[in-house]
Amino acid sequence: MVEISTSILTVSKDQIVKTIYNLEVAKTNYFHIDVMDGKFVENFTNEVMEEYCGYIKSISNIPLDVHLMVKNIKKYIDIYLNYEPNIITFHIEAVKNKEEALELIKYIKSNNCKVGIAINPKTKISKLHDVLDYIHMVTVMTVEPGKGGQNIIKEAIQKIKELKDYIDANNIDIDISADGGIKLENVEDVKSAGANIIVSGSGIINSNKYEDVISKMKI
Ligand code: DX5
Ligand code: ZN
Repeated sequence: MVEISTSILTVSKDQIVKTIYNLEVAKTNYFHIDVMDGKFVENFTNEVMEEYCGYIKSISNIPLDVHLMVKNIKKYIDIYLNYEPNIITFHIEAVKNKEEALELIKYIKSNNCKVGIAINPKTKISKLHDVLDYIHMVTVMTVEPGKGGQNIIKEAIQKIKELKDYIDANNIDIDISADGGIKLENVEDVKSAGANIIVSGSGIINSNKYEDVISKMKI
């Protein structure tokens, strides 16, 4: 059984409250909050994502899975800690060195929040070896970060397998999340590669059968 983290990036403001309710009924395990600062990636989503976190906190108990696609990681950690997320994930490409990554990991944990690190399709898994022991989850990007509704980059699925083999060989207990372009027609490849948390946005939101899609993705 995998867990599903539904990205609400592409949900319009007039649909968000209804969508939150419907995703809760459909038993999404998490709401995936895609925070973009207009610097690490072109788009800027912070205001809308904060507004959506506010709605979720007021009407649902489903945990937040916050994905920071930002340069100034500490600034956005402080913003999203206010919404008591289950986990905050930042990009390894946005930190200068291992020391900075470990500082941020320690800071997030000190605020009773789990920590994830995301890697872009072109980033090698070996870039994470130094930090795997200190985090709860790796998010393998299966699209270039920056927007929803893209097609999956098939080569990135191989990286999930490489990461899974590495954590198994080194007895590291960590979640592997895959994020980007994941739909019913490709989710089996992603799961068999080793992902145990599936992030999906358009693959769920664009279907009008959230419960059907989410339950099939979970099997
Ligand atoms: C892309 C985001 C993803 C994206 C997922 O930068 O990190 O979470 O919104 O949406 P789909 O599943 O439509 O690619
Ligand atoms: Zn994301």
